[in-house]
Amino acid sequence: MEKISADKQAGDLPTGAMFHEGMASGWSDGYSRGGFGRRRTYFLPVLDRNVIVGQRWIDLGCGSGVLTAELLARGASVVAIDGSPNMLTEAQKNVKAASLTWLRLDVEHLVGVEDGSFDGILCSSVIEYVQDPNALLKEACRVLRPSGRLIISVPPTLSFVRTVQKTVRTIAASVGIERFPYLSVSKFEIAPGEISCRLGESGFVLDRMTPFDPRLPNFALMFLRPALLIVEAYKKTSK
Ligand SMILES: C[S@@+](CC[C@H](N)C(=O)[O-])C[C@H]1O[C@@H](n2cnc3c(N)ncnc32)[C@H](O)[C@@H]1O
Repeated sequence: MEKISADKQAGDLPTGAMFHEGMASGWSDGYSRGGFGRRRTYFLPVLDRNVIVGQRWIDLGCGSGVLTAELLARGASVVAIDGSPNMLTEAQKNVKAASLTWLRLDVEHLVGVEDGSFDGILCSSVIEYVQDPNALLKEACRVLRPSGRLIISVPPTLSFVRTVQKTVRTIAASVGIERFPYLSVSKFEIAPGEISCRLGESGFVLDRMTPFDPRLPNFALMFLRPALLIVEAYKKTSK
């Protein structure tokens, strides 16, 4: 696999990567508190039960490398992929390891990544930003070995917090103010009941799905939809 430095020119950036270009320098700091901090903490046991020492993992849409470091800490070798040059530059400053490779690629087209060559893929807060979520899932399936693990977060339809934010955004826009700009690019949402079927169409079997919300307390998730569902799945052994 070709190792690509973060500053290599590769044409136009994917929309989701372009959106994150200006956020790279503060991205890791965001994890030290609040909703991002809770998200990192939430992922740790998920990684503990999926990552095995010596495995090969991809951090797909790695951002500034916060979760890449957690994969490495669990003994995996990691290929960390992102489409944002600034995110990759930041990540390369933050995370260093001999068993780590950075690739600048569109997550919908994992050009040069061999079929069946990875044991697991982590894809945190990325699928909602891509043009074609099915393309991401199909590429993830292609590069995983049979029974390889996929950990992916997806925003469900009718999430309480996203619905409130969309309403505020619409009202604010009517008076010329932009609120929650991420909603201009974070488009993909899926009904929880459709997730198993969507995964199945892309070659995966749903294993576990748990709610996470950066703002709502856990008890509220008994009656309100969270901002994210954390999905654990594995690649079917045969289609
Ligand atoms: C919300 S951030 C999440 C970063 C990291 N996974 C985390 O949980 O901290 C989304 C990341 O996906 C990347 N991204 C979005 N769309 C992409 C695409 N089509 N190809 C490559 N990277 C993309 C962005 O550059 C950004 O770093």
